[in-house]
Amino acid sequence: MKDKTFLMIPGPTPVPERVLLETAKHPMGHRSSEFSKILEAVYQDLKYVFQTKNDVIVYTASGTGAMDAALSNLINEGDKVLSLVIGNFGSRWAKIAAALGADVDKIEVEAGQAINPEDLRAKLNQDNEKKIKIVTLTQNETSTGVTNDVKTLVKIIREHGALSVVDGVTSLGAMECKPDEWGIDVLISGSQKGFMIPPGLSFLVANERAWEVHKQCKRPDFYFNWTTNRKSVLENSTAFTPNVSLICGLKVALEMMKEEGLENIIKRHTKIAKALRSAIRAIGLKLFVEDDSIASTSITAILPPDGISVPEIRKVLKNDYDIVVANGQNALKDKIFRMGTLGFVSERDAITAIGSLEATMHKLGHKFELGAGVAALIKELNRG
Ligand SMILES: Cc1ncc(COP(=O)(O)O)c(C=O)c1O
Repeated sequence: MKDKTFLMIPGPTPVPERVLLETAKHPMGHRSSEFSKILEAVYQDLKYVFQTKNDVIVYTASGTGAMDAALSNLINEGDKVLSLVIGNFGSRWAKIAAALGADVDKIEVEAGQAINPEDLRAKLNQDNEKKIKIVTLTQNETSTGVTNDVKTLVKIIREHGALSVVDGVTSLGAMECKPDEWGIDVLISGSQKGFMIPPGLSFLVANERAWEVHKQCKRPDFYFNWTTNRKSVLENSTAFTPNVSLICGLKVALEMMKEEGLENIIKRHTKIAKALRSAIRAIGLKLFVEDDSIASTSITAILPPDGISVPEIRKVLKNDYDIVVANGQNALKDKIFRMGTLGFVSERDAITAIGSLEATMHKLGHKFELGAGVAALIKELNRG
């Protein structure tokens, strides 16, 4: 039976029916008062999800667009940028900074590891002349399933004086992120993840320190320009024609997030990811990130057992159970597969996924006690 596809990739993530129905409506005029009311609610509710008092800019662009928007409004040719790289997306920050003419240095760790705060402190302590203007980092590295301790890292960056620019694409709406409280200067995210809507929108929030640096930016990007875009936010409008349908869907998704409450959303993600990890171990599979303290609560990376390949596992899961999981990226391609439990994901989804993974591994000849994964999962879920 087809057409029951369950996306367990790290994004796009499943979209609730209420949101889908909203996005399916005929688009309304983006300068109408009706749409302005929708934007007013969206801008307000985004502050709740972003845990900020600052204005959140909405771009009609993917997450990378917001990354570009962050750096192209801050960097002048030759500025020093330090990129904390723990995987593909940390590396993307470095590439964008370099494309904008920055002098980029990196702290890079092996895939599966997080940034050690002491390494960052040591690096910044060497910068006696305070030349480093920006430090980029990723809260949740989607390519490996590792979460950085952003709160601690940002504190160290603030002590040095550089701006912290944080990628929250697969962390917002899945794990704690408090830009105002923690002192994150710029935070970005994307729609097709914890926000439970299709791809096409991204978000950016900057604090006063970042706005001061923006004022010194000689050639800020035109489309992504913070000043023109924020002016529109303040007018409950957008600078250019936005993806009206997605913004209408976002309004509903944000209402759902408020209904559930951010704290409960984070608890749900933590509980499901923890149970999933326990189930994977019970099936006799190895987690790519063994250390629970840095393991992501939105993406779980798993190693295939000897003799069974990642493409085989993905193929059976897709063809026989209609579940799509992601391959590894770049050097990790065919070395790991990744299960996303981000956004509109329930305990039932996790039970279905682990049951299907067990059935898949059984078919592929992996030796384990059939049912052990589901049992471990349920026990962990019921722990409360
Ligand atoms: C952590 C992270 N940053 C940035 C991006 C880029 O977002 P997009 O693919 O929407 O441009 C992704 C996409 O998966 C991501 O996971």
